[in-house]
Amino acid sequence: MLQKQLQHKQLHFGNVVCELAVLVGVYLEGQGKSASPLDELSGLAEAAQVQEAGRITQRRRKPEAATYIGSGKLEELKELVNAVDADLVIFDNDLAPSQTKNLEEYLNVKVIDRTELILDIFASRAKTTEARLAVELAQLEYSLPRLKRMWTHLERQGVGGVGLRGPGEKQLEVDRRLAQKRILDLKSELNMIQQRRHREVTARKTSRTVSLVGYTNAGKSTLLNRLTDSDVYVKDQLFATLDTRTRRWHLPGWGPVLLSDTVGFIRDLPHHLIASFRATLEEANQADLLLHVADASSCEVYIQIDAAFQVLTDIGIREKDTLLVLNKIDVLEPDRLDIFLTKYPNAIPISAGKGLGIENLTIAVSNILSKEFLDLTIELPVADGRLMALLARDGEILSKHYGEEMVSVHCRIPQHLVGRLRQEKEIQGLPENVS
Ligand code: GTP
Repeated sequence: MLQKQLQHKQLHFGNVVCELAVLVGVYLEGQGKSASPLDELSGLAEAAQVQEAGRITQRRRKPEAATYIGSGKLEELKELVNAVDADLVIFDNDLAPSQTKNLEEYLNVKVIDRTELILDIFASRAKTTEARLAVELAQLEYSLPRLKRMWTHLERQGVGGVGLRGPGEKQLEVDRRLAQKRILDLKSELNMIQQRRHREVTARKTSRTVSLVGYTNAGKSTLLNRLTDSDVYVKDQLFATLDTRTRRWHLPGWGPVLLSDTVGFIRDLPHHLIASFRATLEEANQADLLLHVADASSCEVYIQIDAAFQVLTDIGIREKDTLLVLNKIDVLEPDRLDIFLTKYPNAIPISAGKGLGIENLTIAVSNILSKEFLDLTIELPVADGRLMALLARDGEILSKHYGEEMVSVHCRIPQHLVGRLRQEKEIQGLPENVS
């Protein structure tokens, strides 16, 4: 039965149906209200092939226990739903299962919340096995406490027949156990993938790694393409990509680094999703540097920067070198850029699309990565190809000058390599003050 419910959702994304929705946002006291509330929800709805047919907002001290919005607004909502003949109502807030049920009963249309909408978008976008498993896990964990609501609906709609008569508690219990078992299986599969990913990323650790993170639609994939001359999918769409892509970036004046693009963040990212996407975010977790890309042209940019920092904290990777990159300056008034730079003096303004500011960005990245690197000239025996290979693998060889017995190598190496090289008695010129 659970399967049927999920299949139904997927049909909805099969490029066939475009549903009409009324959007609802309730802003509680103390909660900052953005200049254009519900614009983001409208974008999310569009990403799920749902068209906005109207919107209603309300400011309240606290949510109404039974229906989240107050009775007057509920009446107004019902009138709007009927007037525009909406198929569903989407709340910008997270609803308790009982609130969804009460609202659906009163409004007589499907009601979903922001989390459910984001989960649906992720489900339609997931391409790799890993992303599919992560989304399925998040959906099941979200659905579990709501199974009863699904059954109540079916009863009301008169769906019954063999095996479904009086589905009530017995069938509900079967579904619940099936879902719980699947959740355990998915967790263990994802755990294995995460361990494998951890090993893979650690094995690559001899290269410096930089990860692009940031709010969805900020321009991360465009920047990856610009810096690495690649051709990854870019679209003016929320959550265009869910998977991590890693490319080699030849950082001028520095050498090769690995650059990864990863899933976009969003404010109030459902916790189930954060947990499920841990494996995907492993690259960012182990990166030497994070490039936090923000869309400077968005009127919500400050909220988006804070939200992305919040997600980084939630997934436990806040404590890293991070460079804020203000993208899309090509469509920005110069005085707005000045305001940004007063607030974020270390940020790097760029346009990934137009290729502006890219040189400044590469210099800033080089400087940060160089912090733990040493620029050295050392001498090795000409005959020892093994040491030369070690330097080339873990560092960067800038030039070589051959003598009869020794070769003088100008190189850049990570500090931690010095201790290892000190064990090689033939090497001369290692700095005394570095362990
Ligand atoms: P998600 O996959 O949703 O996380 O998005 P993303 O951060 O990877 O953004 P993406 O690179 O897909 O770009 C989103 C939109 O912004 C696309 O329409 C890009 O063409 C546009 N864009 C990216 N960089 C710039 C820029 O410098 N200037 C302008 N004007 N648009 C840009």
